[in-house]
Amino acid sequence: MAEQQSAQERATFPREAAGILRARSLSADYRHLAASLRVGQRVMDVGCGTGAMTAGMAELVAPGEVTGLDANAALLSEAHHTHGHVQNLSFCTGDVYALQDEEAFDVVVMARVLQWLAHPRPALERMVKALKPGGRLFVLDYNHVKARLVPPPPREMLHFRERYLAWRAEAGMENEVADHVAEWMQGLGLTDVEVVAQHEITQRSDDDFSRRVRLWGDVARTRGHQVVAAGFVSEEERQIAVERFEAWAASDAEEQHFYLLSVVGTKPL
Ligand SMILES: C[S@@+](CC[C@H](N)C(=O)[O-])C[C@H]1O[C@@H](n2cnc3c(N)ncnc32)[C@H](O)[C@@H]1O
Repeated sequence: MAEQQSAQERATFPREAAGILRARSLSADYRHLAASLRVGQRVMDVGCGTGAMTAGMAELVAPGEVTGLDANAALLSEAHHTHGHVQNLSFCTGDVYALQDEEAFDVVVMARVLQWLAHPRPALERMVKALKPGGRLFVLDYNHVKARLVPPPPREMLHFRERYLAWRAEAGMENEVADHVAEWMQGLGLTDVEVVAQHEITQRSDDDFSRRVRLWGDVARTRGHQVVAAGFVSEEERQIAVERFEAWAASDAEEQHFYLLSVVGTKPL
């Protein structure tokens, strides 16, 4: 499937962008899940990256066991290295489309991964199979089109951003994925589907503002090379977008709104 291969290549997480994942924590970056996990639950985190949020899940459900799965061996090796000592936590390399587990987990989580999949429904189907009857599927993701920066960033970045979203869409990725998940879950027969806003709103007065507001610049600096290689922007356009954006982030940026939804559904008994 040529389109799927292209999406998989584009989804490959650039190693130099791993800092974005490393800096996340369950309590700050997936509040709805943090409030929902219970001691003793068996959890799978699909697309766990460096395991930063997965480790938070292990802490909350201990002695329940948590498995982190990711298609990227380099990120998983970092996850092992950093969190391998946690007793109730294990990591394994694997692709969500090839998930074979059946009725094994109380909770299956997929955070910020569906946005990278050209075939979200078969992926959701695999995760539903992996749930025990009565188990819950948690999906957290973006609607990239609804992201808003205040004041608007430089036009060079807006141009890069528009081309970046087109590069993603060409590979079959849904830029507004957050707003489709509830319907897909219902289509798969999940019940009690609930949507909880998890928007990331960062303001200049926040302690971590300077780190968080860099995200679009980091994407252009790291993933941007793939966008250039695919012919969607020139290297010059990428560089100038990064440069102007970094200057804007340091001096002008006031607020960043990322639109994220957590969608949860229950597998019928
Ligand atoms: C944006 S990161 C999200 C990491 C983490 N869940 C978080 O919220 O910080 C997306 C992750 O999905 C993984 N991924 C992408 N496609 C995948 C697939 N088909 N199967 C499993 N993992 C995949 C990537 O390797 C990457 O680690």
